[in-house]
Amino acid sequence: MDNINKSANSILYIDGVTVSFDGFKALNNLSFTVPPKSLQAIVGPNGAGKTTFMDVVTGRTKPSQGRVIFKENINLFKYDESSIVDLGIARKFQRPSIFPNHTVLQNLELASYKNKNIYSTIFFNNKSMDSDLITKIAVQVNLDSNLYDDANSLSHGQKQWLEIGMLLSQNCNVLMLDEPVAGMTDEETEKTSKLFKKISKDRSLIVIEHDIDFIQSLNCPVTVLHEGAVLAQGNMKELKKNESVIEVYLGR
Ligand SMILES: Nc1ncnc2c1ncn2[C@@H]1O[C@H](COP(=O)(O)OP(=O)(O)O)[C@@H](O)[C@H]1O
Ligand SMILES: [Mg+2]
Repeated sequence: MDNINKSANSILYIDGVTVSFDGFKALNNLSFTVPPKSLQAIVGPNGAGKTTFMDVVTGRTKPSQGRVIFKENINLFKYDESSIVDLGIARKFQRPSIFPNHTVLQNLELASYKNKNIYSTIFFNNKSMDSDLITKIAVQVNLDSNLYDDANSLSHGQKQWLEIGMLLSQNCNVLMLDEPVAGMTDEETEKTSKLFKKISKDRSLIVIEHDIDFIQSLNCPVTVLHEGAVLAQGNMKELKKNESVIEVYLGR
């Protein structure tokens, strides 16, 4: 076991992480803490290291220095991508990966199968799924009246919600989302804000987003990344008045 000496109550403890690409530091001694059952936004200019941060936590990129501790003492750098998913860290990319020719219900069922064996997934023969849980998730992601619609027929925003529902049904502790409201209508964006607040009562949500109004509506702590490190932290209202944040990100 590592000698772990983290003081704060955290689900993710990011400690001095550096990622170098041919000498260029995409992350430069990055440190911050994500509390359990919390909502946290990450913003910053293009190239700040936001996506690299998610790549590091999800095991896609290995850092040259530092560590990320999950829960009490799990050093994530010892695990590969699929083991990290199994540990309870889920990631949503911008393009939803849903099964377009299956219904909403089938998509949620497929995602919830405990046995991720490919045959049980294909042949729907696993009876262990929890239909109460699926109904609860469908209500949570605003799709309870679309259960028998093909995923194909959903709006862009509904597809994003479906994928979030699929990730929720896998029972993760940490959910990381890269630009979740890009392309959504105003109404969908507003509903997504409410959805995230609800989800974060049970798990930690980390949201990378460029939509400042959306982030402000989340009413949550915001971390501003710049050149691979934390430039500032606070709520969006405070950050809007922060000179260095205005300088590098928000503009004048
Ligand atoms: N695989 C890679 N090889 C080389 N450079 C990379 C690689 N991935 C990211 N970078 C560089 O690292 C920096 C941070 O990128 P990224 O994390 O994608 O920023 P963001 O998501 O904040 O826009 C950028 O300058 C980018 O060009
Ligand atoms: Mg990015």
